[in-house]
Amino acid sequence: MASHFLSLGVIMLITSSFSLASDSSPLQDFCVADRNGPVLVNGLACKDAKLVKADDFFFSGLHLMGNTSNAVGSLVTPVTVAQLPGLNTLGISMARIDFAPWGINPPHTHPRATEILTVIEGRIQVGFITSNPENRLINKVLQKGDVFVFPEGLIHFQRNVGHGNAIAIVGLSSQNPGVITIANAVFGAKPDIPNDLLAKAFQVDVKVVNQIQSKF
Ligand SMILES: *[C@@H]1O[C@H](CO)[C@@H](O)[C@H](O)[C@H]1NC(C)=O
Repeated sequence: MASHFLSLGVIMLITSSFSLASDSSPLQDFCVADRNGPVLVNGLACKDAKLVKADDFFFSGLHLMGNTSNAVGSLVTPVTVAQLPGLNTLGISMARIDFAPWGINPPHTHPRATEILTVIEGRIQVGFITSNPENRLINKVLQKGDVFVFPEGLIHFQRNVGHGNAIAIVGLSSQNPGVITIANAVFGAKPDIPNDLLAKAFQVDVKVVNQIQSKF
């Protein structure tokens, strides 16, 4: 009997961790985010439905090129619930990514979303890495009109490998996908992760860690 309860508990833990990994389904037509509301919930509280207007479901500006003059040569223009309050509880968002020639969107992960990408302009190399122990790189060069999917939670990247600029549009399965950029998180943590710890983790000299940490 006790072992039955134990396995039931394990099953419930597993299923609840799966369901918590993604946005929950809406229980009403919409729940436009009330950014100034005093209520704290998982997500954002709903604005009074009677006061909702078309502009709550609207965003303009994805035709504009992002400024890629930065260290990585790319810029993400997000359209998540922070920019479009009507996305609250709907489980989706999108973004435009601009790339300078050879610009990269560095290895990163979205803790709450699968991502689907299409190339609007240029040629983009995309890839993701499977989890331990294989850590297999799955990568491909995409042309204009091609579509690629990055499974939820996996580390992925993009790079402009064409001539001239490149543009991608992505869809994400969360109103608030979150972004963890690996280099920034590991080497740019505030306060620093101890450098001797990182030296052991990356199997390099502490000097190498200090050099990388100084960049973030
Ligand atoms: C792009 O960003 C760079 C670096 O921040 C800045 O110097 C430059 O003025 C920006 N260009 C435009 C067109 O906004």
